[in-house]
Amino acid sequence: MSKDKEMLKPLATGDKTIPPKGAKMIPIYIMGREYMVPETLTIMKAVEYAGYSYVRGCGCRGGICGACGTFYRYIGDYRLRSGLACQTVAEPNMVIMQLPFFPANRPNYSLDNMTGNPHEELRRLYPEVFKCVGCGTCTRTCPMDIDVMDYIALMKRGDLKGAAQKSFDCVMCGLCASRCPAQITQFMAAMFARRIYGKLMLPRAGHLKKRVEDVLRGKYEPVLKELTKMKPEDVKKLYVEREREPDLAEPGKWMPKDTTHL
Ligand code: SF4
Ligand code: SF4
Ligand code: FES
Repeated sequence: MSKDKEMLKPLATGDKTIPPKGAKMIPIYIMGREYMVPETLTIMKAVEYAGYSYVRGCGCRGGICGACGTFYRYIGDYRLRSGLACQTVAEPNMVIMQLPFFPANRPNYSLDNMTGNPHEELRRLYPEVFKCVGCGTCTRTCPMDIDVMDYIALMKRGDLKGAAQKSFDCVMCGLCASRCPAQITQFMAAMFARRIYGKLMLPRAGHLKKRVEDVLRGKYEPVLKELTKMKPEDVKKLYVEREREPDLAEPGKWMPKDTTHL
């Protein structure tokens, strides 16, 4: 490879990052030990560059699964910061500790057996929610910029719809719970709010009920059989050329031209 081409070699995107020649190296500290890593890497890639392999604490690498919650400080700065390792860029003098798992309060419950007042069910399963002292640490810790304290306040007031909606982007990383002085597992209580809101409070979708009935009656079995007999490339073509609802279609107004399977 010519020298110029070698200089242009991009950073590899797999587990083992190969920095281009001349990349600036920065010091970071992983579990207290210093490593020199190329700048611009995410914390996750920097940790891998330093020689660690992820067994836990890494999932989607895209900021969705919440497996890679991480705490860090900069040397000389008292503030404890947090982020997702796959989304936060490593910077010089970061002292990093990942939190791949946080023990949560996970009471056993079955939504099917709940017919009562959702707020009372929340109080029964997660009484600690009502001990929130309003310190705001959870909100400052959340890597998804969710106002965690606010959704906890909505739960306390009985507004489970609001709590469900406000917590919708939670990736369950557990960072908020790890710092709560009231020992609340906010993300589990929020999941309960979303579940019970969906189960007991949201109006039933009539068209969904009909579609489930269609599936159970076997309406789609013949077409599924046809699909399984097709060559993979024909299935791909069918998928790519399928009719799709435009992103900005008015709700309930769009219909596909082919309604055979509706
Ligand atoms: S609410 Fe808590 S668990 Fe959910 S993303 Fe924010 S910090 Fe993570
Ligand atoms: S960290 Fe805990 S006590 Fe503080 S506001 Fe959040 S839920 Fe409430
Ligand atoms: S690996 Fe999934 S959010 Fe980071």
